[in-house]
Amino acid sequence: MCKNPLVQEKILQEIRDVTSSHERTTDVNGFVQSINEEALDQMQYLHAALSETLRLYPPVPVDMRCAENDDILADGHRVKRGDNVYYLAYAMGRMTYVWGQDAEEFKPERWLKDGGFQPESPFKFISFHAGPRICLGKDFAYRQMKTVSMVLLHFFRFKMADEKSNVRYKRMLTLHIEGGLHLHAIPRTST
Ligand code: HEM
Repeated sequence: MCKNPLVQEKILQEIRDVTSSHERTTDVNGFVQSINEEALDQMQYLHAALSETLRLYPPVPVDMRCAENDDILADGHRVKRGDNVYYLAYAMGRMTYVWGQDAEEFKPERWLKDGGFQPESPFKFISFHAGPRICLGKDFAYRQMKTVSMVLLHFFRFKMADEKSNVRYKRMLTLHIEGGLHLHAIPRTST
């Protein structure tokens, strides 16, 4: 998000509109109490920005299933009992034939229509898996991500510690950043 300063400012504006807070609010507890169910539901741009983040950086970048029986996939591909079938959520989030020519761009607006969040099929936005074994904690995860983002972005602006640093991943089953992502958190009240 810190590579997209405009996105941070758009989220901040939405936070201020939804919670009626203003830039001089320094009472953390009071601000946290203003984040209720209704406020979370109204944070449509933030919901879009988080979805866009998970599209491009899925925490589970590769997942697999094992065929219980011989089967034929929707594209005609045959699988035998015991075959492992993998899908790459990381690659799927970047495929132009799935997301269009701007697939690699971070663009929360692609999730919005008339300011409202438009969900995609989970088979397209695969970051939470899809079908009967879809992530059971999806709604809870959004709620947590939204609450934490609202508090952090209300009080701080984030900047990469080194704008020129080359952010690399660790090769793992879950998506981690090699050496961590070093940021500066600048208190909003100091600007
Ligand atoms: C951004 C956050 C999260 C992401 C991207 C995510 C993603 C996923 C994915 C890809 C799977 C399928 C894994 C597989 O079967 O191979 C999964 C399953 C699951 N997730 Fe999440 N998850 C998130 C947060 C959470 C949270 C916060 C909870 C609990 C509160 C949770 C609970 C579960 C459970 C119980 C399953 C197993 C569902 C089943 O097999 O029927 N997840 N999640």
